[in-house]
Amino acid sequence: MADVNPGLEGVLAAETTISLVDGSAGRLLYRGYEIGDLASHGTFDSVTALLLEGEWPAAPASLPPAALDEPVLAALHGLPPAAAPLDALRSGVSAWGAARGLDRPPTPDEARELIALAPAIVGGFARLRNGDDPVDPAGADGLGVAGRLLHAITGEVPEASRERALDAYFVCCAEHGLNASTFTARVVTSTQSDLASAVCGAIGALKGPLHGGAPSGVRDQLTQIGSVEHAERWIREALGRGERLMGFGHRIYRTTDPRAEALRRVAEGLAGDEAWLKLAIDVEDVALRLLAEHKPNRVLKTNVEYYASVVLDGVGLPPDLYTPAFAVARTAGWCAHVLEQAEHGRLIRPDAAYVGPAMRPLPL
Ligand code: COA
Repeated sequence: MADVNPGLEGVLAAETTISLVDGSAGRLLYRGYEIGDLASHGTFDSVTALLLEGEWPAAPASLPPAALDEPVLAALHGLPPAAAPLDALRSGVSAWGAARGLDRPPTPDEARELIALAPAIVGGFARLRNGDDPVDPAGADGLGVAGRLLHAITGEVPEASRERALDAYFVCCAEHGLNASTFTARVVTSTQSDLASAVCGAIGALKGPLHGGAPSGVRDQLTQIGSVEHAERWIREALGRGERLMGFGHRIYRTTDPRAEALRRVAEGLAGDEAWLKLAIDVEDVALRLLAEHKPNRVLKTNVEYYASVVLDGVGLPPDLYTPAFAVARTAGWCAHVLEQAEHGRLIRPDAAYVGPAMRPLPL
């Protein structure tokens, strides 16, 4: 039997026209367009149209606001206030799928509906857990999906600069090839299951700290380091204990993650906590130097989560909503892959090398 490859690196499991993740050049293209250009000049709603439909929309796209209907509200009400918000998103998506009676194959209309609903679910749960009612999405008229997430959480129309910063973050996180959560969505779709089931599986995969759970880890790390004078000692000790620095390293990129560069520019343009941004920039320099010393044979550079944490903090999101915000953005990429898999894919079913006991009699 061939060698086992438990991380599936280098295995080509699909053909895709959605995005190119070029790890050695540090380049990310959505349908041929560079992520830096999309983050600077596009909007998340237009990027969603691009991902789902394949072409840049002729006029700026806008997804209609979605309200929480009864089954989704009931699912959110049924959760303890201390539930993880990502679990609430998964539960809301599941309730939506069950009530919506999704058909096969998944459609772009279902995808648009779900992407528009996702911020309402996250914001709705964020309010319910504090004893507040979900807001009426009609008050968010004119806002894109990212702005509507802020509105759904706070009940207020966000400042334009914050909306723009979160929108750019959403653009950067909308899609990223066959990462673990997207692969999960494609595996579920390959069985001819429905869109909500695929996205629920993807949310589960995103929950782990090695995938989507890192930005609040970056924040905790910066809080513990506290000032650049402490950075070297703190980082050396963490690496000495065999810990990983959050916000660094990537399975694909062997240079700086292009999304980290785009988000650093967004963070620098966001009027917020200057001292916190400076701490992040200074600690990044120390971390890169020490990681190069620690793993001379492995290129460990800044990844998307590092400046994501600064942007998300700057727009006022509480840390436990960082990964749910990421999930709202990534729903666009998941849906694009679900549609592509449903159209062209084959049942995904790898093999395992059996290394258990040889055949033996049952000890009766
Ligand atoms: N800090 C310290 N060491 C790191 C590291 C980090 N952030 N990332 C990787 N390494 C080390 C590993 O410990 C490993 O060392 P070893 O060979 O002695 O065991 C080596 O580099 C190779 O790592 P590997 O596990 O093969 O990398 P991967 O491709 O599986 O992992 C990540 C990619 C993203 C999971 C990994 O870099 C990581 O855990 N980063 C921190 C979490 C994070 O920022 N996640 C967000 C991803 S966008």
